[in-house]
Amino acid sequence: MDVTHSTLISAEKIANRISEMGKEITKVYEGEPVTVICVLKGAFIFAADLIRSLDLPVKVEFIGVSSYQGTKSTGHVRITNDLSYDVAGKNVLLVEDIIDSGKTIDYLTKLIGVRGPKSLKICTFLSKPDCHDMTDRINFIGFEIEDRFVVGYGLDLDGRYRELPYLAELKSL
Ligand code: IMP
Ligand code: MG
Repeated sequence: MDVTHSTLISAEKIANRISEMGKEITKVYEGEPVTVICVLKGAFIFAADLIRSLDLPVKVEFIGVSSYQGTKSTGHVRITNDLSYDVAGKNVLLVEDIIDSGKTIDYLTKLIGVRGPKSLKICTFLSKPDCHDMTDRINFIGFEIEDRFVVGYGLDLDGRYRELPYLAELKSL
């Protein structure tokens, strides 16, 4: 597919919003230690910036999941890399790149919930509220966007465009 892209959210807007989110999250945890679980691969850039905006004792863990092929979700969530750390008794903050159908985050909250964390909260860089009914269950949302396929700032199309410092919308030529 030949594609071009246009900026949807600039690097500056992203940085400003993450700084606000950092303050909000810092306030909610009131100095308690937090285990941030970065959902690979898409959330790696967001999580890297987010943890540096937190004023809390933080540990970072990674979990790998895969459900997309091209611009379509397969609807089947697969763990590609499980946690190497026991989260029982920890305050867990799941950090996602985007919540689209909500299937991935629903699967992950169940998977991690049964491991006995002290608390489990969800933070996502982006949400497509028209595509899921999870909004009440998401604790921290960076930006709500319309139902369109976006790339950049960690998000990919078949592995490409993750390195863009801004969020972009792809357009077919
Ligand atoms: P869900 O399970 O449908 O909520 O999809 C979640 C996962 O699909 C995200 O973690 C992303 O990796 C991927 N995804 C959903 N929408 C987009 C998009 O617009 N661009 C890139 N990846 C997306
Ligand atoms: Mg993802």
